[in-house]
Amino acid sequence: MSTTQPFITDPHPDPVSDTARAALLEDPAFGRVFTDHMAVATWTEGRGWHSARVEARRPFTLDPACAVLHYAQEIFEGLKAYRAADGGTTLFRPEQNARRFNASAARMAMPQLAEAMFLHAIEALVRADEAWVPGGDGSLYLRPFMFASEAFLGVKPASEYTFCVIASPAGAYFKGGKQAISLWVSDHLNRAGPGGTGEAKCGGNYAASLLAQAEAYRHGCDQVVFLDAIEHRWVDELGGMNIFFLFDDGRMVTPPLGGTILPGITRASIIELARRRGLIVEEQPYSVDQWQADARDGSLCEVFACGTAAVLTAIGEVRSGRGSWTIGNGEEGPRTAEIKAELVGIQRGTVPDPDGWNHRIGPFESQSEVHDVR
Ligand code: PLP
Ligand code: COI
Repeated sequence: MSTTQPFITDPHPDPVSDTARAALLEDPAFGRVFTDHMAVATWTEGRGWHSARVEARRPFTLDPACAVLHYAQEIFEGLKAYRAADGGTTLFRPEQNARRFNASAARMAMPQLAEAMFLHAIEALVRADEAWVPGGDGSLYLRPFMFASEAFLGVKPASEYTFCVIASPAGAYFKGGKQAISLWVSDHLNRAGPGGTGEAKCGGNYAASLLAQAEAYRHGCDQVVFLDAIEHRWVDELGGMNIFFLFDDGRMVTPPLGGTILPGITRASIIELARRRGLIVEEQPYSVDQWQADARDGSLCEVFACGTAAVLTAIGEVRSGRGSWTIGNGEEGPRTAEIKAELVGIQRGTVPDPDGWNHRIGPFESQSEVHDVR
């Protein structure tokens, strides 16, 4: 059952003051500062979605038997709201997040959430927390998620779920806004395998990546890159980003979606942007040995990671149990910079957007419009 419910806004009685919010927005980093409100709704078997509200952000009260705490039936999404030049607010292809959310829900035996309801939750929250959308290079990171909230220890799909969206003003994902990051190749710890949950955005995938990410930090690297789980030969993706390889003959290569990789919305958008420019983009397996060889002989000129949080981030250096290598001069290359500029321009509404990816909400004219989203 997928019922659509509007999110009724009950404004925070005591929101953060303008002065305190301005101080928090000065340097929010990533994922540490949260806004005044949250959107929340409940799904109950036989009733569908109900009790949809935007209200003051608060802790949940969970029974110790709450299913998500035991069997990790949980999914999430990530998208950003941007401040447009005219003061309005924009989202980037939010309907794609709604679709992927439902694909993740299906894989995790969770209920579907109507796309319209997903979008309404996001728009209602951004309206309520509009003052938290940073200007400049910042953005408001939106985190929709759903978890099994039934108190029951049997291993089965739960009969009650909570859907929630929280928002967090964000600067650069990597500390200090690094121009180029380093990767550690995980050649024994896997993130996902065939038939598993790799293409779903479920918390378990990230839990499974943490030990490998810790190994990356121990080797002085910023992120971990996972290989396929069978041969440990083919590049899959990073802990929280997809990856692209750019060659001196103009080709771009990215690993194909085969069930183990998250189908990134940034990835899909970059493929479309590059093809529109006449570039050849190949979605094909690329081995870690080939990566090392191509970097050494110079035919591989640029590599970048991409995702909502990371935007486009150049990869300068790779370390692994079989040696280390540098890509180009280890800095962001010109094609990475060009693609990033076009993508960010579309997201912020400053360059032409022929496919209508930029989804405007606001500017909101009056307080009554901010508070009444029905
Ligand atoms: N791969 C993983 C594992 C991710 O967590 C993300 C981030 O959401 C991505 C890829 C990139 O996806 P998107 O571009 O939709 O943010
Ligand atoms: C995102 O880019 O939205 C993600 O979920 C990645 C995560 C590492 C923050």
